[in-house]
Amino acid sequence: MFERGSFWRPSKRRRKPKESWTVEDVDLQKVPKHVAIIMDGNGRWAKKRGLPRIAGHHEGMKAVRRIVRLCSQLNVEALTLYAFSTENWKRPKAEVEYILGLPEEFLGTFLPELIEENVRVEVMGEQNKLPASTVNTVRRAMKDTESNTGLILNFALNYGSRQEIIEACKSLAEDIENETIDKKDITEELLSSYMATCYLDDPDLLIRTSGEQRLSNFMLWQLAYTELWFTDVLWPDFQEEHLLEAIIQFQGRGRRFGGV
Ligand code: FPP
Repeated sequence: MFERGSFWRPSKRRRKPKESWTVEDVDLQKVPKHVAIIMDGNGRWAKKRGLPRIAGHHEGMKAVRRIVRLCSQLNVEALTLYAFSTENWKRPKAEVEYILGLPEEFLGTFLPELIEENVRVEVMGEQNKLPASTVNTVRRAMKDTESNTGLILNFALNYGSRQEIIEACKSLAEDIENETIDKKDITEELLSSYMATCYLDDPDLLIRTSGEQRLSNFMLWQLAYTELWFTDVLWPDFQEEHLLEAIIQFQGRGRRFGGV
């Protein structure tokens, strides 16, 4: 508190209304290194407008572009986006085909810009059931950006966390069998090195849009100490100021990792 005359006033300024967050409000020394996002609400966004669900996914792709650009600008090291889960196959075939075509559309449109921004494209998930054209596009993008040193843009595509953990356990079991690893050497770090994210730090911040508050089989191993941030905003409506708000709130949290 400080006093002006006899009047006590708080020394901190009132918080800005959230619509007006700007990059200048972010402490650039404390930006989360790895942000993970469950991009939810595309279907509801479309329904509210009387549009087919795929229109929501298409609009969601534009939100991806906005958020990638801002993450690059803020020097976030990695952005992992849940684009298609192993459970999303239960959706109508046409919707599945549309979502699985989006990486091609996204990379077909934006890859030159991503290269310009020094972004490195990565993917995690099961390749096998994906359309060949999606796999080829993604492989090409990974190759074309492999030496980029800026933001790592990691798409979780046909990804399920339990499946990832099973695959990690199988590989570890093989290495124990062929005596590359001794079972007494199994540690958290060792098991992490068998995960699809072995080259990344765990996410510092997880964002889920659309008001749902669950993890939906996303990065269950990696999110152990991640700060969770939920918003009612539907993914296609997710703007730069929403990410800034999430990051600013993240910066105000005390992370103790189980300590005091
Ligand atoms: C969840 O919303 C969203 C998805 C399953 C698809 C996410 C995909 C994108 C945002 C586009 C991805 C873009 C690229 C570049 C790969 P929902 O359909 O479950 O929404 P609802 O809960 O309102 O029905």
